Amino acid sequence: MASNVTLIATAAMGIEAFVAREVKDLGYEDVKVENGRVLFEAPVSAIPRSNLWLRTADRVRLLVGRFKAYSFDELFESTKALPWEQFITEDGEFPVIGKSVKSKLYSVPDCQSIVKKAIVERLKQKYGVASILKETGAFYRVEVAIHKDEVLLTIDTSGSGLHKRGYRVGQGEAPLKETLAAALVQTTNWKPDQPFVDPFCGSGTIPIEAALIGQNIAPGFNREFASENWNFIQDSHWDEAFQEAEDCANYDQPLDITGSDISHEMVEIAKTNAMEAGLGDLVKWKQMQVKDFNPRKDNGYLIGNPPYGERMGDREEVENMYRDLGVRMRDYPSWSVYILTSNEKFEKFYGREATKKRKLFNGFIKTDYYQFFGKKQ
Ligand SMILES: C[S@@+](CC[C@H](N)C(=O)[O-])C[C@H]1O[C@@H](n2cnc3c(N)ncnc32)[C@H](O)[C@@H]1O
Repeated sequence: MASNVTLIATAAMGIEAFVAREVKDLGYEDVKVENGRVLFEAPVSAIPRSNLWLRTADRVRLLVGRFKAYSFDELFESTKALPWEQFITEDGEFPVIGKSVKSKLYSVPDCQSIVKKAIVERLKQKYGVASILKETGAFYRVEVAIHKDEVLLTIDTSGSGLHKRGYRVGQGEAPLKETLAAALVQTTNWKPDQPFVDPFCGSGTIPIEAALIGQNIAPGFNREFASENWNFIQDSHWDEAFQEAEDCANYDQPLDITGSDISHEMVEIAKTNAMEAGLGDLVKWKQMQVKDFNPRKDNGYLIGNPPYGERMGDREEVENMYRDLGVRMRDYPSWSVYILTSNEKFEKFYGREATKKRKLFNGFIKTDYYQFFGKKQ
């Protein structure tokens, strides 16, 4: 049985460094960052822990093998040589999905069926099964990913993507992915006792993620994971990981987080989502236009994902709104402001040059995360 495993935390482009930081914070030192993923060596117990705790990763995959293949024979033989029986039980169900980019083996259906055949053969040999494998037991989604002839064979340990925390029951037109919202919060130096406002809260993703971070609540605490029924992960690893999450949560940490939106309907949706996240009335919600923003405290953080004005007809209104925000924030120099938008002229409308900018993808939309540091008082 494997004692150490190699895990791959997949991440949206631009988010890898956040994921690597989180992996290190979990105590795993052997971390390698590649495009769209973070690889790390860790004990088996890292599967429950990383699934429960990683806020910015899309999912956690178990690496079974990595090799070059230029022919179907090579793909078959190298796949069959891997120790699949260490992970997949005799009755395990293991569909194979695939992708191939810039590689000699470009037919994804063929690659999938070859990998499937190779694993079947390996398992039949190892388990001494002469007839067909039943595949009635635990579920293991295998992925064959080929890039420039390099094959990566992994098993998905997460199930649904890690952004699915289990709290989003309602959403608006352009909700932010929870993983990206967590990264936006983690970019800042916000401390849980400082004021935090999202004046474009929509369905509440940013304030909810901030509250979970503020009270150190594991983002995966309210959901299930594909690997919970896997044999090679002892139940005690899962129990300990959930217990650790319970012990680390700091429900007594006071928070000063507010989410507001111009739309009454969105505010109601945000409130429902926060309830679902178990936050009760820890976050304050209110209907408000951003131009009426009027904080009573100093040294706060405003973090928002306003409309981008990409649709014809919206642009002028959105740009005026950016202007209003800039004018408003001039009265609050101690506040730090963080805005995610695809509008390349945001600084011009806001009326100030950003202290820092960071390129991030919001889904397929190229955005900048504009950061204006406040003058602390
Ligand atoms: C891109 S959405 C935010 C999505 C949110 N981050 C989420 O995850 O659901 C932008 C939000 O800004 C709100 N909004 C538009 N104009 C506004 C204004 N002038 N003042 C305050 N909110 C506004 C919209 O109602 C919308 O909910």
